[in-house]
Parts: sequence; structure tokens; C-alpha cells
Amino acid sequence: MEKTKKDLKFYLNKALKQKFSLGAFNFCNMESLQSILTACKKTNSPAIVAVSESALKYMGEEFTIALFNACKKQFPALFLHLDHGKTFDVCKKAVDLGFDSVMIDDSNLSFEENVKLTKKVVDYAHKKGVLVEGEIGQIKGVEDNISAKNNVYTSPKQACDFATETKVDMLAVAIGTSHGINKYTKTPTLRLDILTEIEKLLPSLPIVLHGASTINQELIKTYNKFGGKIKKAIGVDEDLLKEAVQKHNVVKINTDSDIRLSFSSETRKVLAENKIEIDPRKYLAKGRMKAEEIISEKIEKTLNSKNKK
Ligand code: G3H
Ligand code: 13P
Ligand code: ZN
Repeated sequence: MEKTKKDLKFYLNKALKQKFSLGAFNFCNMESLQSILTACKKTNSPAIVAVSESALKYMGEEFTIALFNACKKQFPALFLHLDHGKTFDVCKKAVDLGFDSVMIDDSNLSFEENVKLTKKVVDYAHKKGVLVEGEIGQIKGVEDNISAKNNVYTSPKQACDFATETKVDMLAVAIGTSHGINKYTKTPTLRLDILTEIEKLLPSLPIVLHGASTINQELIKTYNKFGGKIKKAIGVDEDLLKEAVQKHNVVKINTDSDIRLSFSSETRKVLAENKIEIDPRKYLAKGRMKAEEIISEKIEKTLNSKNKK
């Protein structure tokens, strides 16, 4: 895979300096990747495109790489990332395939074991010029096959020790976001104070927020109007996310659920309204357009990454 001078490290540093965040958008098929590509092209925004282990398995390695390369050719400020790699082997595989960065997510292990495994991934990846994201604290919700029932907020001191010992390039922290479409039982909150404390200890550590979907309620209405049955869906507060971007060192924000929801609600609508439509291109194109709209909106309103290419 082609490596340009404007690599991922360049954009992480730029984001730290200019107070924007790279969207890390998950994809699992050609259409979802195209919706990210088009949004980034239209807004002239750099971004990370992420695949989980299960998405990699679903698409297959060769298709994943081929799809990404097709996008990279059209828009070089896109970077391929492995999301929530659980083992050294899966991270190694992604490094060998030419990914720009990998996440080793072993925050469910003890601090010592997490440090040990993360270090092993860092050693391997750095030799090949690939960046590594680690995680400290636990983010509620399902992360591939592992699920955490509750948030274990990141301790700033542990975050500092972990980042220093492992030499990760980015650190995912738990401050109240969570995976999936239903993140809160009550009012959405974020512990931005934890970010402040980490920044006092390590002022230039790139910070990552997972589970950052905002869950647009109009999309939920559409989803349910056309046969869906989502009872409760509360996302992260957009203003708090903006604050995390503008006042803190959050330079990578992960979004999957918002893309899935926009895609699926629109697809449902088209299929419900056209009961004889059998051509996948007709409904997938609509889903893709809606996802693109939601991604562009996020880039402009929350991530502040427009025109940062
Ligand atoms: O953080 C997890 C992502 O939303 C990926 O989920 O394993 O269902 O692809 P997945
Ligand atoms: P959401 O479920 O909030 O979109 O989070 C996705 C994520 O963190 C992927 O790593
Ligand atoms: Zn995640």
C-alpha cells in the first residue's frame, strides 16, 4: 500500500495542533465505505476507515484491501485501521496486510497483562511503520465478542503510566461513552475532567473516544415507522463531543452505530415504500446517500475536520 508523506502520524499531529478530530468510521461493505469516501471528498476532510475483526472476516482480507486501495487512490487522506484487535496475531495480520494503524484492545486484562501485550504489538507494528492504539479503562457495550457490562472509567495516572510504558501512538479512554445504540439510561454525560487530568500529565498524547455515535432521533423514528422496533436509543451529547474536540486532545472519534442506523433506516424506508423493488442497487444507493449525509454533518459540526486535508 502506498505511503505518502502526509501519513496518519502527520494528521494526528495536525489534529492536536489545530484542534480537530479524525473521524474513525467503521465500514463492513462497499457501500458503507463509499459513503465515507464521498463525505470526505465533499468536505475535504482526512479520516480513518476502520474494520473490526468481524468486519474483516465478513468482507475477507482481499476485498477489504482492494476496496480500501480504490478509495485511497481517489482520496489519499484516508487511513485503514484495525478496530478492537483482541490478539497479537490479528494485529500482526493487519500490520502485514499494510494497515496504517491497529488497535490492541486488552483493557479487560490486568494492567500488567495489558501493558505486556500492547508492548508486543507496538514493537512489531512500529518496526513496519504502523501506528498502534491501546485502551485503558473499559468502555461499556459489545466490542466484537467481548462485552463490558459497565464503564470502568480511565484513571488518569494509569493512562499516563500505560502510554509511557507501551509507547502507543493513540490511547482510547473510558469517560462515559459506550458502544451501540443505547448508551445511557438517563441523561448523557461525559467525564471530560478525566481528559483534563490526563492532559496535565501527558500534554501531547493523542486521545481516542470510542462509542461516540450521537443517535439521531429522526433516524430512529424513520426506522420504527417502516417496521423497525427499536425501543430505546440514546447517543452521546453532540455538544459534549464538540467540547472534547475543541478543548481537549481528542484526535480520533469512532463512529459505527450512526452509520449503521442511517443506512438501515433509509433502506427500510425504500423497501417499505416500494414493495416490488428487488434491485439491491435501488435501496443500497439510498442507504449509502443517507449515511453520507450523516457522516458529512458529523465532519462539519462535530469533528471540525472539514478542509483539513
Ligand atoms: O466497536 C465495535 C464496532 O462497532 C464494530 O462492531 O464487531 O459488530 O463489526 P462489529
Ligand atoms: P458506536 O457504537 O457509538 O458507533 O461506537 C463505535 C466504535 O467505538 C467502534 O470502535
Ligand atoms: Zn470501539
